[in-house]
Amino acid sequence: MAKPLRIGMIGYGFMGRTHSNAYRRVPNFFQTEYTPVLQAVCARDADKVKAFADQWGYASTETDWRKLVERKDIDAVDICTPNNLHKDIAVAAAANGKMILCEKPLAMNVAEGEEMCQAVEKAKVLNTVWYNYRRVPAVTFAKQLIDAGKLGRIFHYRANFLQDWTISADLPQGGTALWRLDVAAAGSGVTGDLLAHCIDTAIWLNGGITTVNAMTETFVKERKHTLTGKVEKVGIDDACAFLCRFQNGSLGLFESTRYARGHKALYTFEINGEHASIKWDLHDLHRLQWFDHRDEGPLRGWRSVHITDGDHPYMKHWWVPGLQIGYEHTFVHQVADFLEGVAKGESIGPTFRDALETQKVCDAVLNSAKATQWQNV
Ligand SMILES: NC(=O)c1ccc[n+]([C@@H]2O[C@H](COP(=O)([O-])OP(=O)(O)OC[C@H]3O[C@@H](n4cnc5c(N)ncnc54)[C@H](O)[C@@H]3O)[C@@H](O)[C@H]2O)c1
Repeated sequence: MAKPLRIGMIGYGFMGRTHSNAYRRVPNFFQTEYTPVLQAVCARDADKVKAFADQWGYASTETDWRKLVERKDIDAVDICTPNNLHKDIAVAAAANGKMILCEKPLAMNVAEGEEMCQAVEKAKVLNTVWYNYRRVPAVTFAKQLIDAGKLGRIFHYRANFLQDWTISADLPQGGTALWRLDVAAAGSGVTGDLLAHCIDTAIWLNGGITTVNAMTETFVKERKHTLTGKVEKVGIDDACAFLCRFQNGSLGLFESTRYARGHKALYTFEINGEHASIKWDLHDLHRLQWFDHRDEGPLRGWRSVHITDGDHPYMKHWWVPGLQIGYEHTFVHQVADFLEGVAKGESIGPTFRDALETQKVCDAVLNSAKATQWQNV
């Protein structure tokens, strides 16, 4: 019998659903010493949170996250709330000795993130941040290829994360549905929401970023605020692009926007090395594009590798070779890895400290755009 790991989840929106799905599916597909138990879910509306608990099989509900983090029957707190609540919840959960799985971005800014790191390190509690794209099998495989030296020296890292859902000037900001447009709840716009994913993957694959030069734009300057009913200044970045240098000497180019008409969640990256290049695209997430200059001349070209074989990362847990998996499985993989970490008494990456590195780059990007000059990370 697997040992129980009792989860207390705070927030039941988009991420609350992806995480709940992951907790439920892990025991069916992965053999782990610990198994998640859906002990409690918390949100402010008692009726709505009860309906969610019934739908997903949570044993109990809370309407005050402070109560949840103090409960003796919770082992791990999962933070799925808007960004402005991550720090307070994490610090309180750590003080109560809970393991923590926190959604990204880690915090509103580096100062908050540092406080969170100190809290989990002082309390010695296991922690991770849900930068889930690391656990797309094709992305994990890219990491293995890079670490094995298959690309040789890396020259370029290029990433985009493009969406198109805030183009209408009539869209309000703030409140339950649109907190991402409210700087007080989100901390920043596309930088913390989308580029943070690209930065986490980039640091993981290609090492630290040392210096950045960014530009941001807020195309719609004022929007009605859902909570006050008044037209208010928009404080978030609608679009952001930056150049950077990595510690390994390679150059980076990143772009994110919510104004790229036609794109819904187009996260792509390309890495160019001395011997080979890699390309990946979230819309085709089970494929890795690979070009190897060492291939025989006349046949040399881009290969599209279907990452669905039993010897590709994570894939032996799923179906048979050739059958693909999707977005939700990245969260299943993170839960499975977290449970293995619990058995060993080790945090899995990205830890709070790892996510603080991404936060530092985000802060430097926003500072650089404001100052219109290069900024050290
Ligand atoms: N890893 C990813 O790919 C990914 C994707 C989307 C969102 N996120 C992150 O996940 C977090 C949540 O985003 P989402 O899209 O799920 O948002 P959401 O708006 O769908 O859900 C937020 C939830 O938080 C709850 N909440 C708000 N204030 C609360 C409070 N005081 N007490 C208890 N619950 C409260 C809301 O009721 C809601 O259930 C954010 O930090 C976001 O950046 C990560």
